[in-house]
Amino acid sequence: MLTVEHLAKSYGAKRAVVDVSLSVARGEVVGLLGPNGAGKSTTVACICGLVAADSGTVLIDGQPIRGDDSPVKRRIGLVPQDISLFEDFGARANLELFGALYGIRGTLLDERVDAALELVGLADRAKDKPSSYSGGMKRRLNIAAALVHDPDLLILDEPTVGIDPQSRNAIFDNLEALAARGKAIVYTTHYMEEAERLADRIVIVDHGRVVAADTPAQLKRSLGNTGVVTFEVGGEVDTTDLLQQPGVTRAEQHDDVLTLAIADLGASLPHVVTWLAARGHAVRRIASSQANLEDVFLSLTGRQLRD
Ligand SMILES: Nc1ncnc2c1ncn2[C@@H]1O[C@H](COP(=O)(O)OP(=O)(O)O)[C@@H](O)[C@H]1O
Ligand SMILES: [Mg+2]
Repeated sequence: MLTVEHLAKSYGAKRAVVDVSLSVARGEVVGLLGPNGAGKSTTVACICGLVAADSGTVLIDGQPIRGDDSPVKRRIGLVPQDISLFEDFGARANLELFGALYGIRGTLLDERVDAALELVGLADRAKDKPSSYSGGMKRRLNIAAALVHDPDLLILDEPTVGIDPQSRNAIFDNLEALAARGKAIVYTTHYMEEAERLADRIVIVDHGRVVAADTPAQLKRSLGNTGVVTFEVGGEVDTTDLLQQPGVTRAEQHDDVLTLAIADLGASLPHVVTWLAARGHAVRRIASSQANLEDVFLSLTGRQLRD
């Protein structure tokens, strides 16, 4: 449904997107994961034809976007990073307006607006203005606005920033339902938990480049026998020194919970336990789990996703 090849876009001397390629099939959710400033929104703007790329190709179901009134644009539904709604119109009137902009009218418009409101769980608040909504409800209405013209490709740019966990879960359920109905979905985020929960495949971007692209499971497998170990410890651990120890690639302490990512777990863990004991940190509990996408990003870039 979407093919992006070697996309590049600079703003003056700033290379926002250097080389991004990705593809999304019908029914597939692809996560575009990267830290702030990685080039996610610029990639989205180029895909939607809002910004002209310097080079590279974007094909929607095999067709390029040519010009502002390109019919290909109707195939795309965009949920922009900044909420864009008419605060003084009710929710239903907002959706009618978005539908009308695509030339949809009459009973089809009514049906589409009803379906969109139903999907995002706002049918009972249809008359109310977004100004009376919570942040999460506005986000959901913003998603509904992108659905009224029934696009085949839905692109969401960080749609859960600043919302409550309940709305977030509702949005995830909506997106899973839309994918099950065959929509191709691009979901940009800097939250690795979201990408992991939602995406069939994840494209990790950093400094305008794709640094890895695979299923969440494969990305984590690429770390081999790196594991995450959580210790319940006494005292404040010198995580800077701990990071110098063999195999330790991540070390964070919050209260008495110390979280480490350790490469070659079997070989390195005994030394870490000895290191902690030698510094007088009583270890009360140890639990190990699989490395996560944060660790994948760290191993690829040497930095954390959220720093
Ligand atoms: N209109 C613009 N003019 C100049 N620089 C921009 C503009 N838009 C984005 N940038 C810069 O391009 C880089 C990528 O930005 P963006 O695509 O918004 O990243 P993301 O969405 O991943 O946070 C950032 O360094 C940002 O400051
Ligand atoms: Mg952005």
